[in-house]
Amino acid sequence: MTAAGITALTQVQAMAQAKQETHTDTYVYLILGALLFTLAVLFASIMIFESGERKPKKAAAAAATVETPILTDHEYDGIQELDNPAPAWFQFLFYITIAAAVVYMFVYHVSGRQNSSFDEYIQEMTVAQAQKDELIKTGALINENNATVLSDAADLEKGKEIFTANCLNCHAADGGGTVGPNLADDYWIHGGGIKNVFSTIKYGVPAKGMITWQNQLNPKQIQQVASYVLTFKGTKPAAPKAPEGTVWVDSTAAPKDTLKK
Ligand code: HEC
Repeated sequence: MTAAGITALTQVQAMAQAKQETHTDTYVYLILGALLFTLAVLFASIMIFESGERKPKKAAAAAATVETPILTDHEYDGIQELDNPAPAWFQFLFYITIAAAVVYMFVYHVSGRQNSSFDEYIQEMTVAQAQKDELIKTGALINENNATVLSDAADLEKGKEIFTANCLNCHAADGGGTVGPNLADDYWIHGGGIKNVFSTIKYGVPAKGMITWQNQLNPKQIQQVASYVLTFKGTKPAAPKAPEGTVWVDSTAAPKDTLKK
């Protein structure tokens, strides 16, 4: 990661974290308040309910006559409706949910004092995007499946530096090969093309003396040196080693038209 990248990333993260912390505080108070309020109302409701319940029991004897007045005044085909509302405590809870919905709407969607889930989504995506940008910049996301040939002079120069520092002993400066095989011919033991070459360099062939380079080179560097290796193709090394492996044919290249000559 570049120094500037790290600062940018930590800034975004710190901002998100600071917001998160003030949020957590207000959340705790909000939830605590709501909980106490609900409990208070629940107790009050239960008390009202209990006291209301006893009365009809005492007046149970008179119940038969009491029932008539609470019939509603409509009747269809002889079917009558009894006015029988839900218990007070239950209705209270119902009204609380309505009140809570109004408060919620106001706090999260009107006042803008709290982040809605949409805001939180945007925040998290911003942080994630910053992290992803940083990873792309450092090349951490490059692997043998998505590596492409770099043609930038700067990248190839870097690739040459890496090759000169690490690979000369076994592959010779011009890629002609010494301990390791010739990298300038069309023959490849482990396949040509950027993806195969990337993979061979990354994982190496430890049994045959080719080191696993992924512990010493980051993906970007492997891509640079692999691109540099591919520039040997068609050059004439001073002391080329005899071809090893088979001729590499790029299966993604357009097929040759064998009918026309
Ligand atoms: C200690 C010696 C040694 C060093 C250092 C070394 N290689 Fe190799 N390399 C080999 C050998 C040996 C092979 C052949 C492996 C085999 O026979 O399977 C090889 C194979 C390869 C191949 C595959 C060639 C093919 O025909 O498929 C590539 C690409 C390669 N090396 C690139 C590199 C790069 C890039 C570096 C430097 C970062 C490097 N090597 C450093 C010894 C070395």
